[in-house]
Amino acid sequence: MIIAVDGPAASGKGTIARALAKRYGLPHLDTGLLYRAVAATVLREELDPEKEADAVAACDFPDSLLDDPWLRTDDVGKVASVVSAHPLVRASLLQRQRRFAGQPGGAVLDGRDIGTVIAPDADVKLFVKATPAIRARRRHDELRRNGANVSYDRVLADIRARDERDSRRADAPMRQADDAALLDTSFLSIDAAVQRAVELVEARKAAQA
Ligand code: CDP
Ligand code: CDP
Repeated sequence: MIIAVDGPAASGKGTIARALAKRYGLPHLDTGLLYRAVAATVLREELDPEKEADAVAACDFPDSLLDDPWLRTDDVGKVASVVSAHPLVRASLLQRQRRFAGQPGGAVLDGRDIGTVIAPDADVKLFVKATPAIRARRRHDELRRNGANVSYDRVLADIRARDERDSRRADAPMRQADDAALLDTSFLSIDAAVQRAVELVEARKAAQA
């Protein structure tokens, strides 16, 4: 069973993808981390994220970088959204994601284009959303918990800018696949959102059986 989970920043897709992977005993890939690793390499080597050739050179990062907590910061997330718009960067990360999705037994992948480009034949597709204000509140709470001193307005502006870039790019823009189930987590607790996701997976499985 391949499960594709897409959606914008702080919609709750990562939390849902991890919970589904655990429940169904499947390996999980957070594909955003791959773009974040490219971004971190661009930053560390003082390359220009707007230049496609610079961003492509940064695709050759070591696997060990994926464990670096720095990747999860908002500065890296912002640059990830810039490098991810380059078609050659997306092409360079494509095979790795397809291989992961093609493992015997299946996998859960979360990102922006899993249901549309990486695994268009996925058994289950979820598109997770929540209002920008609620996503900014979640991200702001998260940053505060980690000791960052940043205003809510700043976080909201960053989220809006990233939504805009990710959905407007020409190559593999963020969008709900035609056959994806929509899950709005705006007014759901984590537990309720996960429960809803499980219901949607079970409904798909029943429909396919
Ligand atoms: O966790 P959050 O939703 O904030 O971001 P992420 O999933 O780690 O993704 C960081 C950036 O990588 C996104 O803003 C996208 O620009 C890019 N990305 C993408 O283009 N395609 C994916 N499948 C996953 C991430
Ligand atoms: O992966 P993505 O960026 O879409 O979001 P996430 O990392 O799963 O969730 C972002 C933050 O929102 C985390 O701190 C979650 O605990 C929180 N969250 C929430 O408050 N309510 C939900 N229904 C889902 C996530």
